[in-house]
Amino acid sequence: MSGKRTFTMIKPDAVIAGHTGSIVKMIEEAGFRILAMKKTRLSAELAGKFYEIHKERPFYGELCSYMSSGAIVPMILEKENAVEDFRKLIGATDPKKAAPGTIRALFAKSIDANAIHGSDSDANAEIESNFFFSQFERF
Ligand code: RTP
Ligand code: MG
Repeated sequence: MSGKRTFTMIKPDAVIAGHTGSIVKMIEEAGFRILAMKKTRLSAELAGKFYEIHKERPFYGELCSYMSSGAIVPMILEKENAVEDFRKLIGATDPKKAAPGTIRALFAKSIDANAIHGSDSDANAEIESNFFFSQFERF
């Protein structure tokens, strides 16, 4: 059965460009409830830990330096079928391939600076939520 929670973060390019408010509005209007949210910044080391599953991929180094280049806005979101529905809302990894009207189609600059992250499974949603938020920060 699919779960009710997913994890997301607005990435540095979208935060710097001033798209946080527009993206949060799209997320809420799509029926997701924000359970936790903050503005923070990852060190390169923490970004490396967060994306550890991509350690062997050729873009890992760039991904970690990009993800630690500025502030991010991580969130835990709640909705039926959260992981799958949220991946639909954000669109494909490469904004050139993202469906019209998706968050990445509207706000992503490139495959690296692609505006937003979305968990790819219920298990990873749980792991990624715990990476940023304690149980006392969820409402
Ligand atoms: P995310 O984890 O950030 O939500 O992105 P995703 O699932 O759509 O894509 P994933 O395969 O998990 O890759 C994580 C991030 O690495 C960068 N990437 N670059 N140059 C490339 O071929 C490439 N592929 C992936 C992207 O920034 C992607 O969001
Ligand atoms: Mg991913």
